Amino acid sequence: MDLDTQISSWTDQVEKGGRDLFQKAFDWDLVDQISATGMYPYFQPLDENQGPVALYQGEEVIMLGSNNYLGLTTHPKVREAAQEAIKKYGTGMTGSRFLNGSMKLHEELEEKIARFLGKEDALVFTTGYQANLGMLTALIGKNAVAIVDRYAHASIHDGCRLMEGENIKFKHNDLSDLERILSDIPQDKGPLVFVDGVYSMEGDLSPLPDVIRLSKKVGARIAVDDAHGLGVIGPGGRGTSHYYGMENEVDLIVGTFSKSLASTGGFVAGAKKVIHFIKHFGRPMIFSASLTPSCTAAANAALDVLMAEPERADRVRKNARWMKKELDALGYKTGHADAAIVPVIIGESMLTFMIWRELLDRGVYTNPVVYPAVAKGNGMLRTSYLATHNSEHLEKALEIFKEVAQIYGMTLS
Ligand SMILES: Cc1ncc(COP(=O)(O)O)c(C=O)c1O
Repeated sequence: MDLDTQISSWTDQVEKGGRDLFQKAFDWDLVDQISATGMYPYFQPLDENQGPVALYQGEEVIMLGSNNYLGLTTHPKVREAAQEAIKKYGTGMTGSRFLNGSMKLHEELEEKIARFLGKEDALVFTTGYQANLGMLTALIGKNAVAIVDRYAHASIHDGCRLMEGENIKFKHNDLSDLERILSDIPQDKGPLVFVDGVYSMEGDLSPLPDVIRLSKKVGARIAVDDAHGLGVIGPGGRGTSHYYGMENEVDLIVGTFSKSLASTGGFVAGAKKVIHFIKHFGRPMIFSASLTPSCTAAANAALDVLMAEPERADRVRKNARWMKKELDALGYKTGHADAAIVPVIIGESMLTFMIWRELLDRGVYTNPVVYPAVAKGNGMLRTSYLATHNSEHLEKALEIFKEVAQIYGMTLS
């Protein structure tokens, strides 16, 4: 059985029956099989992952697989803010925002995010994943419906499973499919159209002005998950809504601190009353411990750096565009390069893993993405670029891509 077919049955594994619940775990050996070939790419520990160059099994590798877009995880001001917060407040919150886990630190960050994005208020969650779950569980009750782009982030789809209301998916960036779905929503149901600003694997943008036009026509609210737009596109790195000049038309902006803002955590920003509502009904806000002092302080300091040095965002996009142009010239098939992400389309899963391995052994770290994360046969290497990549890093990476293209050239072009 070829790897694509084997991986297809990967997701069926959890559905396996039998009296002993654990039998499916004992039987599942796909990862062992791939690992035996040296091609298993996931859960590989890095020795150091500090920026444009990482350390993998003692060797330096050019990091083209990080979301540290602005390169701020090692910025002195960000480190210092995190260290100071630990000294002053300790290491954990030991409770949810609802009870003992709220601090002034959280509120300060919320005010700063709201001001940065031009929204009335914001709410900080422990992860971006939870921000999506929180927003959807609070707003999409039995009489509401979430209409979600099929390629939107898994946390949005997981939020849809957890919420009580209806969920309808529309084809990726397909406006006529969205229009058709919107026209069928009964008048007594409140629709929310939910898209990613920048799609995390494909690297393309949502056609937001048209999404907004269609949504407004039927009175639907609009939410944008801008995990990959924040800090990278739009004026001052304010993200996709600002890029299109439509921040006032987007009702809710969701974001994460785990990419440009060099920390962990997430947020939802929007109108004060709506944020207040999410705060009291979003399950992850109430039933999960709040963001640690160090993560909160790091995100806050990273946002300060972004505001003081918006040119970092320009550098990210410039690096991504340059690499796309050069990879195309080598014969690689790439996708969009609208933000920090440049997907390099390979095809079949095993070939994707082989090229990932070849690049890694020669000193370039990429993220292989195969079915079911992308369509079958559309395996890709997700590459992403940082403000802190310099021309030496990128030229060296490109040289390695060139060597690999020479080995696999026939298959790639
Ligand atoms: C589009 C998008 N939304 C949400 C998330 C979740 O963010 P976090 O890592 O903060 O949980 C991610 C993370 O990969 C993402 O890419």
